[in-house]
Amino acid sequence: MKISLFHYLVSFLPSVALVKGQAALLSNVATSPPEIDVPGPKTIDGVVCLPPNLLYKPFDPLRPKSVPSYSLSQFDESQIVGPTANLDADVVELLNSLTVEEKVGQMTQIVPTMFMGCDGLINMTATIEYFDKWKIGSILADSPQKGGRWNYNSPQRFANFSNTVQQVATTYGSKIPMIYGLDSVRGANFVKGGVIFPTAVNTAATFNPIHAYEAGKIAAKDTRAAGVHWAFGPLADVSMEKRWSRNFENFGEDPHLAGEMVYNSVRGLQGNYKMDRSRVAACMKHFIGYSAPINGKDQEPRYIPWNYLMEYIVPSFQKAIDAGVATGMESYGAVNGGDVVSSSYLLKDLLRNKMGFKGMLVTDYVEIDSQYTKHMTAFNSSDATRLTLNYTSVDMSMVAISIDFANDTINLVKSGIIPESRIDESAGRILQLKKDLGLFEQPFSDPALIDTVGSAQDVEVARNAARESIILHQNKNNILPFSIDEKVLYIGPNMNSTRFMGGGWNVHYDGPTDAEGDAIYDGYGDTIMLGVQQITGKNIGWYTGFDITGKRVDDYDELVRLARCADKVVIGFGERTTREVNGNINTLVLPVDQTELVRRITHETSTPTVLVLIQNRPFSLGSIPDWVDGIINAGLPGAYGGLPIAEALYGKYSPSGRQSYTYPKMDYQTKVTYFTGIWNEYDPQFVFGSGFGYNDISYSNITVSSTELRPGCPITVSVSATNNGKMTQLEPVLMYTTQNIRRRYTPEKYRLRSFDKKEIISGATVNFNFTLTAEEMMFWTVDLDHILEEGPVTITMNAFNKNNVTLPIYLYTN
Ligand SMILES: *[C@@H]1O[C@H](CO)[C@@H](O)[C@H](O)[C@H]1NC(C)=O
Ligand SMILES: *[C@@H]1O[C@H](CO)[C@@H](O)[C@H](O)[C@H]1NC(C)=O
Ligand SMILES: *[C@@H]1O[C@H](CO)[C@@H](O)[C@H](O)[C@H]1NC(C)=O
Ligand SMILES: *[C@@H]1O[C@H](CO)[C@@H](O)[C@H](O)[C@H]1NC(C)=O
Ligand SMILES: *[C@@H]1O[C@H](CO)[C@@H](O)[C@H](O)[C@H]1NC(C)=O
Ligand SMILES: *[C@@H]1O[C@H](CO)[C@@H](O)[C@H](O)[C@H]1NC(C)=O
Ligand SMILES: *[C@@H]1O[C@H](CO)[C@@H](O)[C@H](O)[C@H]1NC(C)=O
Ligand SMILES: *[C@@H]1O[C@H](CO)[C@@H](O)[C@H](O)[C@H]1NC(C)=O
Ligand SMILES: *[C@@H]1O[C@H](CO)[C@@H](O)[C@H](O)[C@H]1NC(C)=O
Repeated sequence: MKISLFHYLVSFLPSVALVKGQAALLSNVATSPPEIDVPGPKTIDGVVCLPPNLLYKPFDPLRPKSVPSYSLSQFDESQIVGPTANLDADVVELLNSLTVEEKVGQMTQIVPTMFMGCDGLINMTATIEYFDKWKIGSILADSPQKGGRWNYNSPQRFANFSNTVQQVATTYGSKIPMIYGLDSVRGANFVKGGVIFPTAVNTAATFNPIHAYEAGKIAAKDTRAAGVHWAFGPLADVSMEKRWSRNFENFGEDPHLAGEMVYNSVRGLQGNYKMDRSRVAACMKHFIGYSAPINGKDQEPRYIPWNYLMEYIVPSFQKAIDAGVATGMESYGAVNGGDVVSSSYLLKDLLRNKMGFKGMLVTDYVEIDSQYTKHMTAFNSSDATRLTLNYTSVDMSMVAISIDFANDTINLVKSGIIPESRIDESAGRILQLKKDLGLFEQPFSDPALIDTVGSAQDVEVARNAARESIILHQNKNNILPFSIDEKVLYIGPNMNSTRFMGGGWNVHYDGPTDAEGDAIYDGYGDTIMLGVQQITGKNIGWYTGFDITGKRVDDYDELVRLARCADKVVIGFGERTTREVNGNINTLVLPVDQTELVRRITHETSTPTVLVLIQNRPFSLGSIPDWVDGIINAGLPGAYGGLPIAEALYGKYSPSGRQSYTYPKMDYQTKVTYFTGIWNEYDPQFVFGSGFGYNDISYSNITVSSTELRPGCPITVSVSATNNGKMTQLEPVLMYTTQNIRRRYTPEKYRLRSFDKKEIISGATVNFNFTLTAEEMMFWTVDLDHILEEGPVTITMNAFNKNNVTLPIYLYTN
């Protein structure tokens, strides 16, 4: 029997929609959501409580239908669709009809926890109060259950929740539809069934931006299915500090690579978002300079020379703006000692004036308050709010857990400290965004999208991204690939685990809890051993060896004995699933028990051994590469990474991933990037761009259309790649430049200018063509001039690779 979760709603809401004011935009806003029935608990005094006899399940027992395939109407995406810079007339009309309180409400974003009842389910009294009294314009995050139940909601239950809140928003207070934002950063990772994609660092490793586009497009659809309109992604930072817990969330360390991925991610998430209701507003974050914490710990200070910031960190954000990103999020903490959230230089001069961002800007979590609670740059809440409003162009405060921002801003405007024009500017941007997303036409979710969540069609897209992200680093004596009749001993806590392949932003912020385990996926995911079983047809056992924190749990003597009788051994290293402050570590040194097991197996047996890395941080491998025969870096390939890893081991395809960041040897290299100075040491464990496949690929015939490179006259660089191997190879080709002499900024060893990836069948030769412009050879000097210098330049294909090829050209400034 179904018991009604929200039946009390009927008694709370007027049956006739109230029409607010005269503004045309509000005259047709629907206030009746589609009914998305979810079986559930009863309400007691207007609050939903789970009955005590309800069977405990860590996750929502409801499932989407997950149809095997689907097709949605395709809108024209050939033009870039971006923020509407000049407000539409009907938006201006609505804005002009609003009171100060209503405008400030639009700028206020809170978390659902603020209005959840005793069991974490919605408290209608509180919800109505926030929307009626404070005229809240936005909410964020999923609806966590205080009781820990159903902490992971099906799209049905999520949509039922979103629509319930939306109905309150459109019925009470300003009656303006609320915009709902969610951290859908790798698929709709907080919606049960939503395909959890590889992390950004893996997407970057594919060197194939289509994967950023497709992951964005599917994330958007699944997010919309849950009644959510706004995804807090992509992360446009470049990875500058390899101990940092958020390393995996960025598209690697290279500005060009990250820029291409960010661009495609925005296009995928947004598409033609002013027409297409299966797309969301994207949010480039975190603006700016978040990724270089001085001690490697999250939110710690960053000291970044401004020329360095302009040269390496700004470009990937600029690509998000070029892609039409609708919103942006400022960064936590301080850059060079100054809070970002009150920085006129960063958020006005740079972001709005220099970079031309016209979209809506939100703060990071509680960041306005942090000025007086953490950073000690403001005296109190009102002071902090004043600083942000007066000095920056922030439009919305992710105040999250209080209404201080709304109250302060109302007081500041009413007392004339902040002019009303300042809040008009921000409220206007927010209303326009809501209009662009279609919220005034249809504020509620589209129930038709629910059945597509978790479709096999999407799973295959995620698996393809994972396949292309897997990096083969070492393959002594061609130990890989295995044949299916070989006896392989599998060891490692992540060998049969879905959650450990995911890392953070995977079901929950820190991944599933130990208590939830893999059960929480309810079948939406796979594991390496399930992949091995599918390929070999055998249910091969495996051993934990050590736990996910690297502590010995099995008898190593026994494992050594088993290794002796095996044909091959696979050992998987992993890491807890965390992010942000919870993921802080002190060092990249591996736990001793992990290293010890590898040492014993490689020293006490002659069985060839393969190390599989499934981790966020690049832990120091020490002597392990000398001991083992094969090394695969699988990064964090996501909930469907198991089959792709198994397929790589058994040669179902030839790996084609490349390191998207410099993998350091030890802690002293955590801030080293490949674009270090031409004369500086670059000797990491795995260089940027390293990785190979099971085929030998040779390069030849590098040519240029002209050896003179001049502004306004791009040249074409061509190279041929021949597959001398037996299998088909997807081959990425990375084109770098080196300016041999450069007076005003030490030339970098290399700079990636372009890349492409093509399929080369066995025996075939494929031509790769790239365009190179003089403009991209411009650089920022220490005096913050952006200039070009004449001189010789070397073009290199696949730098640091044994099959690199080079060609000299000459760069002119006119
Ligand atoms: C949510 O589900 C309940 C229980 O079936 C239903 O009564 C209610 O109308 C639904 N609400 C929405 C907004 O879908
Ligand atoms: C529901 O919200 C109201 C208003 O904020 C509050 O007084 C009440 O205690 C809440 N009830 C529960 C059970 O959380
Ligand atoms: C907050 O700090 C400012 C700046 O010192 C001060 O003027 C104001 O009175 C303070 N407000 C409150 C409520 O304490
Ligand atoms: C706002 O900023 C301007 C500088 O842009 C400054 O002169 C003014 O004093 C500030 N006003 C408030 C109320 O903070
Ligand atoms: C709002 O601000 C006023 C004036 O500072 C203060 O008296 C009141 O308590 C505040 N209300 C809330 C709910 O914080
Ligand atoms: C791997 O885990 C799945 C459940 O997630 C289980 O069905 C299967 O038997 C396990 N395989 C091995 C080899 O342990
Ligand atoms: C390289 O160019 C030469 C001369 O044009 C041609 O004969 C040869 O076939 C080319 N090799 C490849 C691998 O394309
Ligand atoms: C690549 O460039 C070469 C030489 O400039 C040209 O002959 C060829 O047609 C180009 N190929 C493609 C696919 O653009
Ligand atoms: C790059 O190619 C040259 C010439 O073939 C070769 O001598 C050099 O070792 C290669 N570099 C690397 C890092 O393998």
